[in-house]
Amino acid sequence: MSIENAYNIWANQYDTNENRTRDLDKKSTIETLDKYEFENVLELGCGTGKNTNWLLKKANQIIGLDFSQEMLNKAKAKVSDKRVIFKKADLTEIWETENNFADLITCSLTLEHIKNLNHIFNQANLKLRKNGLFFISELHPFKQYSGSKAKYETENGTKELEVYIHHISEYIDDAKNNGLELVEMKEWFDENAKIGLPRLVSFVFKK
Ligand SMILES: C[S@@+](CC[C@H](N)C(=O)[O-])C[C@H]1O[C@@H](n2cnc3c(N)ncnc32)[C@H](O)[C@@H]1O
Repeated sequence: MSIENAYNIWANQYDTNENRTRDLDKKSTIETLDKYEFENVLELGCGTGKNTNWLLKKANQIIGLDFSQEMLNKAKAKVSDKRVIFKKADLTEIWETENNFADLITCSLTLEHIKNLNHIFNQANLKLRKNGLFFISELHPFKQYSGSKAKYETENGTKELEVYIHHISEYIDDAKNNGLELVEMKEWFDENAKIGLPRLVSFVFKK
């Protein structure tokens, strides 16, 4: 099944099922971005809009892009604010938004489904203003080596989605090759599990 169709099915339970990765991403997003100022935000793989309402506390305008219509429908039901536009778009293609639009791009838990990171950083550079920030929060590659991947429950058992492993150096090198420099990086652990593998890695890059 395609990733798009899998998320169309997952959409109904995405916000309600137990999901430590989803919940830790919300914490990493808020704790990382709280200290930055931003107005125009491009949210990549916005999904059900889990992070959109928090981003709206600071932003003047948000464009959320995602290729799953059902995830977008959930987002539209959750976030009704004229400062937000949700658009159906495949991030592996050219992004149909204005160049130099964003002073912040965010991307949470989406790049594990995208093989070519270079394309993402190339498009991000075009959409960011000078000094704009690109925040990424993803399943940590260590966690992926241990077998973790995006998955949801169905009547016929657990459905695992197709994923790609991106090494930490791949993020940093591809960002650098596209004019983005690393500002901060952090590893995020499950509560009470500081000795275990980090669940998430987050980066902030600057144009
Ligand atoms: C795990 S969800 C994360 C949603 C949201 N960012 C969050 O943190 O809750 C991944 C999202 O990425 C979207 N996605 C995956 N590959 C995509 C692509 N190539 N283009 C657009 N959206 C994509 C999926 O439809 C899904 O909504």
